[in-house]
Amino acid sequence: PGADGVKRFPLLMRPGQAEFLPGRPARTWGINGDYLGPTLRVRRGDKVAMAVTNLLPEASTLHWHGMRLPAAMDGGPHQLIASGGTWNPAWTVDQPAATTWYHPHPHGETSEHVYRGLAGMFIVDDEHSAELPHTYGVDDVPLIVQDKVFDEDGQLEEAFAGTFGLLGDQVLVNGTHDPFFEVTTTRVRFRILNGSNAHVFTVGFADDRRFQVIASDAGLLRAPATVDRVRISPGERFEVVVEFRPGEQVVLRGFAGDSAVEKGDYDLLKFVAAQQLAASPELPRTLAGRSPVEPGERVRKFRLGGSNINGNEMDLARIDEVVAAGAREVWELDNITYEHNFHIHEVAFRVLTVDGEEPPEHLRGPKDTVFVPGGAKVRLAVEFGPHTDPKVPYMYHCHILKHEDKGMMGQFVIV
Ligand code: C2O
Ligand code: CU
Ligand code: CU
Repeated sequence: PGADGVKRFPLLMRPGQAEFLPGRPARTWGINGDYLGPTLRVRRGDKVAMAVTNLLPEASTLHWHGMRLPAAMDGGPHQLIASGGTWNPAWTVDQPAATTWYHPHPHGETSEHVYRGLAGMFIVDDEHSAELPHTYGVDDVPLIVQDKVFDEDGQLEEAFAGTFGLLGDQVLVNGTHDPFFEVTTTRVRFRILNGSNAHVFTVGFADDRRFQVIASDAGLLRAPATVDRVRISPGERFEVVVEFRPGEQVVLRGFAGDSAVEKGDYDLLKFVAAQQLAASPELPRTLAGRSPVEPGERVRKFRLGGSNINGNEMDLARIDEVVAAGAREVWELDNITYEHNFHIHEVAFRVLTVDGEEPPEHLRGPKDTVFVPGGAKVRLAVEFGPHTDPKVPYMYHCHILKHEDKGMMGQFVIV
């Protein structure tokens, strides 16, 4: 923080060059670097001030996905930053510890801008954060998973044709092709973000070991949930804690699912454990997760079409929903087509049911993005924040970026 107690983050969006494949540098976009952006880390209560400068050849935005903040600071399609311009949003961080992220949101162009490399992680800590592994890069490690198509020159091929847009055959983790991680502690917390355009990953270990999910998009669960697989759709985050034995090697994989959007049978990341591992503290039996979002009375229904919601394509000039500050509501998603997912800006929600059934333990925590299988009905208990603005809307949309770009997005204001 500066003398005034404000944490300032200068962020420069610019063209770059990254060598994903040896000897074949690719043209990319990045933030303060050639590909992806820095991990930002703040504490609940911090005042933050961003200076986002756009050195790209076209207008873009930077959206703080998962941040609870006033709509004018949200970085959605209405907060365009012209080429050569700078945008200065500022807000006070007031939400429980969570793994959030940031990425561009220019209407109709989000696929390209994210795919070229504009995205980064944004970690919020609070007074409970020291109870869990938190040494960045050692036992608290971000994993940004993204699929790509490379042409024979090693360039990122913008293969956006087809129903879901880009479905890559190669996967990068933190911008690295064929990555590995050197494990030095007996337990490591990974913050996994699916930063892909469309692919869904069902991740687990090649040896089927079990691991603990400790947090979903909007913060900690109430207790660790033991799993051997976790399905992550674009925009979703899960924090997991994995145990390692000295000297072992193990691989994190994407496992084949039952749908066209799931990228399966693919190695994501190799782990190489040191011969001697520093002992990590036991994981607490209960976590500091907030109490579950309670469903409100008011129900809103959203019919998910192929590239529309309730039959409407996105219109920047139309406000679709008006919500009261601090409201709790039930949002019912009725997917009448193939796979989608659904993200709501600003809020935290809880998944009540998927096709009438309660979701597994690790999907009952606070979230902001949810996978919606083809033909499924999903009910959410949604909690809205206190920041009112009758003119500037927040977005809700499918986070399969081609669908979002084609208009599968709506706008709500909080009044
Ligand atoms: Cu991750 Cu509307 O965005
Ligand atoms: Cu968002
Ligand atoms: Cu979709």
